[in-house]
Amino acid sequence: MKYKKLFSPLQSGDLTLKNRIIMAPLTRMRAGEDFSPTELNAEYYAQRATAGLIITEATQISQQGQGYLNTPGIYTDQHEAAWKRVVDGVHANDGKIALQLWHVGRISHSKLQPGETLPVAPSAIPVTESTSRIPKDGGFERVLCDGPRALTLDEIPGIVNDYTNAAIRAKRAGFDAIEIHSGNGYLLNQFLSTNTNHRDDIYGGSLENRARILLDVIDAATSIYGAGRIGVRLTPNGIFNEIQDTDAEEMTEYLARAFSQRGLAYLHIAEPDWAGGEPLTDTFRQDIRKNFTGSLFFCSHYTAERADKLLCEDIADAVAFGRLFLANPDLPERFRLNAPLNEPDSSTFYCGGAEGYTDYPAL
Ligand SMILES: Cc1cc2nc3c(=O)[nH]c(=O)nc-3n(C[C@H](O)[C@H](O)[C@H](O)COP(=O)(O)O)c2cc1C
Repeated sequence: MKYKKLFSPLQSGDLTLKNRIIMAPLTRMRAGEDFSPTELNAEYYAQRATAGLIITEATQISQQGQGYLNTPGIYTDQHEAAWKRVVDGVHANDGKIALQLWHVGRISHSKLQPGETLPVAPSAIPVTESTSRIPKDGGFERVLCDGPRALTLDEIPGIVNDYTNAAIRAKRAGFDAIEIHSGNGYLLNQFLSTNTNHRDDIYGGSLENRARILLDVIDAATSIYGAGRIGVRLTPNGIFNEIQDTDAEEMTEYLARAFSQRGLAYLHIAEPDWAGGEPLTDTFRQDIRKNFTGSLFFCSHYTAERADKLLCEDIADAVAFGRLFLANPDLPERFRLNAPLNEPDSSTFYCGGAEGYTDYPAL
């Protein structure tokens, strides 16, 4: 065997993973009309069940949490039932699957929001470049995000409650775990980051205050799922969606300690090179490692060789693959056999049907 650790099993909290090859969360904008996952979505995930763990595409916890067209939700009975079919398909193929919980915050448009109100954020700081998509004449239109308005202090328990309800539904749908999406410039990342959080209440200012909502969400979710089935995704140094966080490393280390105290299953670090930002230094990676006692996943531009090296150096416990898994439903088998890989086609990443989705050939 060419790889020393990639194919060894991993105990991550209460999750027993058959290998250390994780499918990274990938938004594909192919949900059904009511934002329920479809049969096609179920087929796509079932095809990829040889991953040690599939992390689903980001899934909005409420209508307010939606920022793009055709992304799935987990806030209605229909969503829950449809996700159960997805989960059952993955389990039938002996896979494990975590649901990534998402609130986009300011990365939205009022046309996607309940009552066409403005999107919400920690502070009313507009985002100038990021765009959303709204339907027009049956097609798509790219538009600048509008708003946001700042969440009032008494609205924050409602947001936490939406995460709790999403966790309850995820559990009933049978997900093995949930991953709290706290990166890529979406709501929780907007709270963490110095340039998007200018609040002067207990959810803003100090690093501890900026981290508070994420820890509130985790504590609420823990009461439903148990910490051993919860992971968090962070994107330190990432600049996607106009994040400019002057405290990213310090915040990550603080959070890593807070997650350890809570016994979370895993911390998933998506590195900046996918969407821009200063690369992570080795010292910083080691600091994260020292501060977090659960499993550590890294993601971004990994090859099987680089991933196995990171595992052998004991910097990471598992590595997530995004675009390679998108294009190779049998990615672990291809790694095992050192077989050629299908090339991802970026023109079919978002929206559409089976093409570029379920039709990438297995070996
Ligand atoms: C089409 C596409 C959709 C993505 N959607 C998500 C998402 O829903 N949630 C998330 O945390 N990251 C998302 N990402 C980031 C990936 O999870 C991953 O971090 C990135 O692709 C880098 O890994 P790779 O080089 O292995 O592809 C997305 C990336 C791509 C290319």
